[in-house]
Amino acid sequence: MAKFYVTTPIYYVNDEPHLGHAYTTVLADVLARYHRHMGEEVIFLTGTDEHGQKVQQAADARGMDPQAHCDELSERFAAVWERLGISHDFYIRTTMKEHGNVVRRILSELWDRGEIYADDYEGWYDVSEERFFTEKELVDGKSPAGNEVVFLREKSYFFRMGKYQQQLIDHIEANPDFIVPKKRANEVLGFLKQKLGDLCISRPKARLSWGIPLPFDEDYVCYVWFDALLNYYSGLGFGFDDDRSDFWPADLHLIGKDILTTHAVYWPTMLMGAAMPLPKTILAHGWWMFGEQKMSKSKGNVVKPLDTMDLYGRDILRYFLMREMTPGSDSNFSQDLIVERNNSELSNDLGNGLNRVTKLVEKHFESALPGPGEEGDPEKDLKAAATLAADGVDREVRNYHPNGAIREAMELSRAVNRYLEVRAPWKAIKEDRDAAGGTLYHAAEALRIVGVLLHAVMPDKCGELLSRLGRPSEPADFASSARWGILQAGSPIHSGDPLFPRFELEKE
Ligand code: MSP
Repeated sequence: MAKFYVTTPIYYVNDEPHLGHAYTTVLADVLARYHRHMGEEVIFLTGTDEHGQKVQQAADARGMDPQAHCDELSERFAAVWERLGISHDFYIRTTMKEHGNVVRRILSELWDRGEIYADDYEGWYDVSEERFFTEKELVDGKSPAGNEVVFLREKSYFFRMGKYQQQLIDHIEANPDFIVPKKRANEVLGFLKQKLGDLCISRPKARLSWGIPLPFDEDYVCYVWFDALLNYYSGLGFGFDDDRSDFWPADLHLIGKDILTTHAVYWPTMLMGAAMPLPKTILAHGWWMFGEQKMSKSKGNVVKPLDTMDLYGRDILRYFLMREMTPGSDSNFSQDLIVERNNSELSNDLGNGLNRVTKLVEKHFESALPGPGEEGDPEKDLKAAATLAADGVDREVRNYHPNGAIREAMELSRAVNRYLEVRAPWKAIKEDRDAAGGTLYHAAEALRIVGVLLHAVMPDKCGELLSRLGRPSEPADFASSARWGILQAGSPIHSGDPLFPRFELEKE
């Protein structure tokens, strides 16, 4: 069985979960669900990043023990994922002792092989980014991100990142799928035009105690990124009943473009140093913006995903997030857009088609699906549209474009409505009951396929759609459920409240 291993970044527990985190996590969830439908064995990993200065400061600010603070915040993320219907297979936390053991084992191996060395280090330290900058890199006495910096000189441990510079360039150039979209690969290649230095991987315990102690010098803790990136590997070893390290390398690391360098430079060189295979694809998506601004806590325009979920339901939010953003580009988030997508695509197209078909079967066929009857051109066209949609979804998912998959599925939903207009079963029923029945069969079967194809995006809504058509709410894999001819004559059909109610936006 083919394997698929997908990850999200592990989120810092110094912040409340917000829409940006939710997007990456829903994207991973939708891709994981699609790959399960494709009959693959899937591991989907998410979790929280709990060490480092920012977390320690957040705990201090609340007057809390850092572990207690982490437990609380990590649980908050997990609770949001639960409400969003996230189907991760393991929830990793970097304060888990098994993770720490893996980090220390790999550090020891790198140390023994001379991949890590000690040296004096001096430079300008950005506390909030936990990174050193050289004098030249400072902008008006501040870090490039605009944060305050302090001058520090201390013994440090370094990973020999620089020696892998050419190997990394070669790998990126030889593997067009390694960093996508392409503009992000080019950005990394641009960054690699300058000489790549070694990576400081230690923080003195005297300054920062909240971390994993270095196995070869207990006066230091491990740099938080070195610790965090290893979650992608460590989780496979201890998160499951059996060791699932056979899932390494990951098929897909999903990240926001803000953390490209750590994932596309630090992480692969770390793996090279450890003589481990590199992930197949790193996909850096864009940002959700409000108006022209990136959402951020400091700007105070964070949208709590819970709030939009309360208003519209989780599946509508999932649909919107997946439909609106092409992975790679930035997108705007607004309530108007959610309402518009819901009303025009989900209510008018899909919900309306389902409503017409189920109501007519209830009214004229005692809620039992009629047989397909004879096929004319419109029926053949509809079947062709269904095949096209199923193939299109498969292709788009393999390209990691859930928005494309949605487009393909919604194309079929529109084809159903066009088909119904052509055959007009509500009129035909008076003259030719068999023909009208055949039309309803075809429309129902096509809608069933739409439900199967969108199930990964809207598991609740599509589950309900399928059950109204007499099918189990959890579809079997695509090979047996996304093809034509599953619905049988006599299958019980029932209508209900509109599956996708329209929303009106209150105008201020
Ligand atoms: N802890 C690190 C990641 C370590 S992974 C080994 C981290 N955490 S974070 O909490 O800051 O989360 C960053 C991620 O959240 C981004 O990469 C992105 O996936 C998501 N987003 C945060 N804000 C976002 C937007 N405004 N828009 C889209 N996604 C964004 O960095």
